[in-house]
Amino acid sequence: MQVLIFPSRDEATRAAAKRIADRIVGHLDIVLGLATGGTMEPVYARLIEIVREGGIDVSRASSFNLDEYVGLAADHPQSYATTMRRLLFDHLPFDPERTRLPRGDAPDPLREAKLYEAMIAAAGGVELQLLGLGNNGHIGFNEPSSSLASRTRIKRLTRNTIEANQRFFGPDETVPTHSITMGIATIMEAREVMLVATGAAKAEAVAAMIEGPVSAACPASALQYHPRAAIMLDPDAAAGLKLRDYYEDVHPGGREVYFARR
Ligand code: GLP
Repeated sequence: MQVLIFPSRDEATRAAAKRIADRIVGHLDIVLGLATGGTMEPVYARLIEIVREGGIDVSRASSFNLDEYVGLAADHPQSYATTMRRLLFDHLPFDPERTRLPRGDAPDPLREAKLYEAMIAAAGGVELQLLGLGNNGHIGFNEPSSSLASRTRIKRLTRNTIEANQRFFGPDETVPTHSITMGIATIMEAREVMLVATGAAKAEAVAAMIEGPVSAACPASALQYHPRAAIMLDPDAAAGLKLRDYYEDVHPGGREVYFARR
């Protein structure tokens, strides 16, 4: 695992956006795995700036989002489909045919989950998967106790997640109780993963993910088995790490410094 601790939230999210942009430049037909959540808002804002400034062609890129609420249509104001348009797709010339999310209002959500998994495979799999982190260690909507071998399927949300996500809904609106989410094995098949976590509320989950045992109790800990995983943190999210000094020695200021032969 590459543990990158940046001096600020701004620098962590900027570096995440830069890495996405670099990968698009490296392969214009890239298949991205995208995420939602408050953490991603500054990442997408920076990405829009970098793509515009660099004149980067995103029209050939494809994307698959991690998850969607069951019961919400793509045009529902709180659906992840609407969120993605608001944060990213409305601002850059992505091809709408190539930006995909699970259909939350599919008549048969189980079938939709299977179809989504098949669509990812048919596209050749995800090259770079972007991830946020739930306060309880979830990735996508893979709540604690999710099988580490899971595929795209329906997951019931924990009360903790429903409460955490209530802020995106109006006071009189209820957060859906179920989601369609890529599974942990689906996520692990991405050739590269990049998880971004910022703020003190994530410190405990970050420590469990990086330094705890690999366990379904902390779904993100599965990333310890991923051969190419970068964890981008700000100082608050890194606060619970026992080996923090070591990570900062390896990557000062979050920079990718490699061992060089003298
Ligand atoms: C939701 C999403 C996750 C996201 C998590 C953290 O539950 N399904 O993909 O990582 O929230 O969100 P935030 O960044 O708002 O803390």
